[in-house]
Amino acid sequence: MNGKPVVMLIVATAVLTWYGPLFSQEDLRSLRGMNPIEDTSKNPDSKRWEPDGAPIQRDFVQQPPLIPHDTKGYQINLKFNKCLTCHSWANYEESGATKISQTHFTNREGVEMANVSASRYFCTQCHVGQRDVAPLVDNEFEAVKVLQ
Ligand code: HEC
Ligand code: HEC
Repeated sequence: MNGKPVVMLIVATAVLTWYGPLFSQEDLRSLRGMNPIEDTSKNPDSKRWEPDGAPIQRDFVQQPPLIPHDTKGYQINLKFNKCLTCHSWANYEESGATKISQTHFTNREGVEMANVSASRYFCTQCHVGQRDVAPLVDNEFEAVKVLQ
C-alpha cells in the first residue's frame, strides 16, 4: 500500500479549509431560498398561474410543449391521471384538447404499445405549467430560426 490516497485526502482537506469560506451559505442560492440545509425549507410565495390560453409557441421542434392552462389540483398517480381525462386519444375530441403525441406510445425498448408508455406517464416531468416570475438566472436563449 502506498501513501498516495492519504496525501490526496490531506491536500483536499487543506484546499476545502482554505476555500471553504468562499462558498459560504450566503452565496448558495437555490429554489429553496436561503434556508440553511439542515433547516426545514419555508414555502416560497405562491405565484398565480397564467390564465388559460392558446398553445404556446415552441422554441425548438423537439420541445415538449408548455402547458397553456392551470393544472392546480391535477393529480397523476398510479391509479389516475387527470391529464389523460382530456388529452388521451379516447377523450381529446370531447374535451377539445390536443391528443398526446404518437411518440408517447413507444416504450424505452422502442416497442410500440396500445397505451401510454410508463416513461411518458408522468406528464409534468416534461410539460410545465406557466407562472409569471422573474427567471432565477439570465439567459439569452433564442428560438431556432425556423420557429421564430
Ligand atoms: C379539462 C381538460 C384538460 C385537462 C385535465 C388537461 N388539459 Fe392540457 N389542454 C386542454 C386543452 C383544451 C388544451 C388546448 C388549448 C387550445 O388549443 O386552445 C390543452 C393544451 C395542453 C398543452 C399544449 C399542447 C400544444 O400543442 O401546445 C399541453 C402540453 C397540455 N395541455 C398538457 C397537459 C398536462 C400535462 C395536463 C395534466 C397536468 C393537462 N394538460 C390537463 C385541456 C386539458
Ligand atoms: C419524457 C418527456 C415527456 C413526458 C413524460 C410526456 N411528454 Fe408529451 N411531449 C413530449 C415531447 C418531447 C413532445 C413533442 C414531440 C413529440 O411529439 O414527441 C410532446 C408532445 C405532447 C403533446 C403535443 C402533441 C402534438 O400533436 O402536438 C401533448 C398534447 C402532450 N405531449 C401531452 C402529454 C401528456 C398528457 C403526458 C402525460 C400522459 C405527456 N405528454 C408526457 C415529452 C413528454
